[in-house]
Amino acid sequence: MRKPLIAANWKMYKTPAQAEEYVKAFLPLVTGHDRDEIVLCPSDTSLGVVIPAVAGSNVAVGGQNMHWAEEGAYTGETSVLMLTAIGATHIIIGHSERRQYFNETDELVNKKLATALKHKLTPIVCIGEVLAEREAGHTDEVLRKQITLALVGVTPEDAENIVVAYEPVWAIGTGKTATPEMAAEAHLLIRSEIARRLGRHVADSIRILYGGSVKPDNAIALLNQPEIDGALVGGASLDPQSFAKIIKY
Ligand code: PGA
Repeated sequence: MRKPLIAANWKMYKTPAQAEEYVKAFLPLVTGHDRDEIVLCPSDTSLGVVIPAVAGSNVAVGGQNMHWAEEGAYTGETSVLMLTAIGATHIIIGHSERRQYFNETDELVNKKLATALKHKLTPIVCIGEVLAEREAGHTDEVLRKQITLALVGVTPEDAENIVVAYEPVWAIGTGKTATPEMAAEAHLLIRSEIARRLGRHVADSIRILYGGSVKPDNAIALLNQPEIDGALVGGASLDPQSFAKIIKY
């Protein structure tokens, strides 16, 4: 059985003080909730307040991005060693905003994934098609290519901890969601591609999340799909009440 994972991607929102205030309001809303793994991904500047604030709770914390190198002359970047040293346990890799605005390529995604696995940081690898690709009927091809390139060099032993997030780019921050059936279809395709590369056993244990305008009122239909193993939530995770409602779908 795959334990669902529900992650908040706060993107470039919230100061450390706002993040701390959020955690104070949020923790009591999810106390004792054990059905799903819960992860908050604040900006790097808030990690240092969020991680101690959730200590001892059922909430884990991850970064939104990191460099593939363990250290080096890369001004402005954050390394895996920095993240693990302060207690981060998860990392979002290859979010579409990083691909779109920061030239993150499939090759970089692959290098970051290898680094995360080496250091036992649970990677949440984002893939998804843009609207033009969906409209041209290329969704399957795009997803196959992205997942294949992300997994280059990954062994079946390493792969079980990988989390994949299917995030159709046209659904991110737009209020448009994939229908539960559309999402389930994409998840099946991604899982079958993982099975082809790494074996059925690995494919069955990897969690595939859906992301793209998940809200309290559509979470239940999406998350009830057996193929959907959780959600990566942007906008609706910024408010503790709304994120808790999604978790308790
Ligand atoms: P959204 O963002 O929920 O605001 O659409 C999802 C994401 O970017 O991960």
